[in-house]
Order: sequence, then structure tokens, then C-alpha cells
Amino acid sequence: MTDMTPSAARPPLWTGDALVAAMQARAIGEAPDVCGVSIDTRTLQPGDLFFAIKGDARDGHDFVAAALAKGAAAAVVAQDRAAEFEGQGALYVVADVLDAMVALGRASRARSQARIVAVTGSVGKTGTKEALRTVLSAQGATHASAASYNNHWGVPLTLARMPADSRFGVFEIGMNHAGEIEPLVAMVQPHVALITTVEPVHLENLGSIEAIADAKAEIFSGLLPGGVAVINRDNPHYERLRKAAENSPAGRVVSFGETPGADVRMTRIILQPDQSIVEATLFGEPATYRIASPGKHVAMNSLGVLAVVEALGADLALAAIAMAEVTPPSGRGEQIRLPAPGGEIALYDESYNANPASIRAAMDVLAQTPVGLRGRRIVVLGDMLELGPEGPALHAGLAEAVAACNIDLVFAAGPLMKNLWQKLPLEKRGAYAPNAAELTGAVLGALRAGDVVTVKGSNGSRTGAIVAALKSRFATNAA
Ligand SMILES: Nc1ncnc2c1ncn2[C@@H]1O[C@H](COP(=O)(O)OP(=O)(O)O)[C@@H](O)[C@H]1O
Ligand SMILES: [Mg+2]
Repeated sequence: MTDMTPSAARPPLWTGDALVAAMQARAIGEAPDVCGVSIDTRTLQPGDLFFAIKGDARDGHDFVAAALAKGAAAAVVAQDRAAEFEGQGALYVVADVLDAMVALGRASRARSQARIVAVTGSVGKTGTKEALRTVLSAQGATHASAASYNNHWGVPLTLARMPADSRFGVFEIGMNHAGEIEPLVAMVQPHVALITTVEPVHLENLGSIEAIADAKAEIFSGLLPGGVAVINRDNPHYERLRKAAENSPAGRVVSFGETPGADVRMTRIILQPDQSIVEATLFGEPATYRIASPGKHVAMNSLGVLAVVEALGADLALAAIAMAEVTPPSGRGEQIRLPAPGGEIALYDESYNANPASIRAAMDVLAQTPVGLRGRRIVVLGDMLELGPEGPALHAGLAEAVAACNIDLVFAAGPLMKNLWQKLPLEKRGAYAPNAAELTGAVLGALRAGDVVTVKGSNGSRTGAIVAALKSRFATNAA
């Protein structure tokens, strides 16, 4: 994805023979070796193997010609469509393309000597996965999921992309419904499985928070025998998760948190606007480290990261040092400074995702951030989606956090956020609009030098457009 190395410089990932064997494919043409795996022509690199996956909206078979024209070494296509592409390039013909990618993922797992971790949780999967990528890369070749590729195609794709000589593999696994994690983790067969936390996210599909905990605990079912389950000791569902781990192939449970008795325990945190300093006890040994990403929630995730590092057999002290290189993934708390007349506006871009836990976490960061002269703490909030019947109450419930975190002004977009808006004291009401696009003008008009502002909403509520509008109105300098 971000790897822009020309194909000539990339080592082969799969030989043609291995592809034919793993996917039980019929090769048309020369059965070439490939240097990478792609399912998207927009990010395809020359030398990649293109899988013509059928998505919800589009069928990858409609992009095979484009993939081959862009330099794909070959395409994997379904038997019933293969005739269309003959003569356009090398093809691997299979019964079902997604099944073939899963088969290649399994072959990848079978050939790998890497130490492997699977990460799930209601929030913090991607941030934790990226932190693991950062700290493990300092100790050996590390392969990790791109973006949030954590579902029925993202997990096999990540497996299929894993170089044979990887020392560490980091896999994000997500779910919207019960039963989805189990088959995914069965492919990954991790040595270590981590649940970051259990929160009311996807409540709509799961029904209760206990059902969410049980669905996350499916991740332990795929552990290799004797593997390590890593659990958040501070979470109210800790006992439930621990029991699930004890009834799984796990040989050991490791806990993290602030609660006394946690194996990786935070004893003190110094919160700053752009970083945190953590004092912790790591399996009985004291340690102090810095994380270049603000927020107590990020520090909590870092404890999970260190627990995983130990469970994988990597070096804890080196990992604690490397934590200083851990910065927020885009849209998840990046701090951007916007020059404004008379000074600067500090913007936290949290537009990637929102749920009750992550909005509270973001407001906590804002509460810790000093404002400039005449500056105010401002939140711009879009609807939190997929919360089901409790959605209105969960939105209204944010009023407490607004008060506790000394937020001065709230801008709200969407029918669900109206429930919060109506709870706010008049002096904290910035503006309300039915959607993010209609709120943008009011936000742009209100901001001034000295303000610190956090923009947050579910991806579907389009608050990212407000961040883009702010960046273009005020020319930006990265913090
Ligand atoms: N432990 C946590 N508690 C509360 N919020 C968190 C936690 N970890 C991350 N977040 C926030 O949740 C949002 C989503 O983070 P991300 O790492 O993308 O999670 P996921 O991959 O699980 O969706 C971000 O706004 C992030 O700052
Ligand atoms: Mg994610």
C-alpha cells in the first residue's frame, strides 16, 4: 500500500508453482511469480497478483483488464468469467476467487515461522496494531494488516501478503456480528491474542454488552495450543473474558491495566497535549516510557502492546523505548496546527470513528490540552452509528463528559446528536445542523486563534469533510 518500491526491487512473494498448488488453480499463460497481492487497482503495484474479488457494490472481474494494464503479474479469476480475459495476460483460474485467496492465506500461515498476534476489541484495534508494528519492527521483520483490513477479505489478504521471512505478524480482526471472529482467527492461528477492551459498539447487532464480550472472546478459540490470551484487567468484563480464555487452547492469561495485580500495570501517567509519560510495572519490573500520541486511552492500549511483546518472546525494554515512535494513525487523534489571524488553532482530527468510549477518550485529551489566550475547548460531533435502540440515550449521555471535560462549545450534526444538543446548557451550544455538510459553515465562522477543537464522528457521518474544510480555510502545518 504505502510501499512504493518498484517491482524490480521487490523480492518474489509467491512462486507460480506455489500459487497453483495453494489455490488449486489452472494457470493460463506462464504461471508467473508475484511480488505482492492486491484486490484494488487503485493501489496495485506492478508485479502484484490481482484477485478479482466480488464486493458488495462491485465485482473485481470488471477491473481485471485495468489490473493487467497497470502491470499486475497475473489475475486470479473465476472459472465462469475466465474466457473474457484470455490473451490479456497471465491468469490463475479458480472455482471461487475469495476461497482461493483464503487458501493462499492458509498456505502463507503454513509456511511462516513468524510469531503471530491477533488483535481485536471494541475500540483501539488499529491503533494497537500500528503500535505493535512500530515496536516489533525495531526487533525484526514485521508484517501487519494494512489500514483496518480486519474482515472476511481483509484477514486472508493480510495473510496472503505476509513475506515468508517475517519474524512477527500482526493481524487486526474485527466483527459486526457474533460468529465472525472464529473463522478468521482459525486462519491466523496466533501465538498471542489480545482484546483491547469491550465497549458498547455494534450494540445494534449484538444486543447486549455481554454478547459483545462473548463475540470478542471468540478470538481465543484460534490460539495455538499453549498460546497467550491478553486481557484488559480494568474492563468490567474481565472475568468473563478470562473464563473464556481458560476454556480455550490458551496456556496462559496475561492482564494489563491499572488494577493491582495486572501483569503489565500502569502506576502513573503524565498526560500532555501531544504525548504521555507512563510509569508502569512490567511483570514486576519498573519501567518509564514515552508515547508520542496523547490520551490515557492510548496509554492503556500501550500496556496491552507491551503484554503482547512479552508473550511473543520479544524484548520488553526495547519495546518500551520504541514506544516513543508511536504516533496516532490518521483520523484517530492526529494533532494539526492551523495558522489563524493572531495565532493558531489546534485541531485534533478524530474524524475516522466515533462511539461512546472513543468520544469520551477524545474529550479527555481536550480537557488536558491548554488553550491559548481567549481560546476555547470546542468539540464538533457527528452521529455515532450502529448503536441500536440505545443510540439516543448514549448520545444524550455525552452531556456529562462535556461538563466534566470543561468543553466550552459543542457543534453537533445529525439526528442522533440532537439528543446531546438538547441536553446542553445554552452557553455551550455552538450550532446544530442535520448533517455535517450543513454544519461546516458555522464551525468555520466560529473558530479563532487560541481555540483547541476536536472533530469526531462515525465515518458514515462525514465529519471528515469538516476537517478538510478547516485545513483548506486555514493553511496547515503538521504539529
Ligand atoms: N482503549 C480505548 N478507549 C477508548 N477509545 C479508544 C481506545 N483506543 C482507541 N480509542 C479511540 O477509538 C477510535 C478508533 O480507534 P482505532 O484504533 O481505529 O480502533 P478500531 O480499529 O478498533 O476501530 C479512535 O478515536 C481512538 O482514539
Ligand atoms: Mg480498525
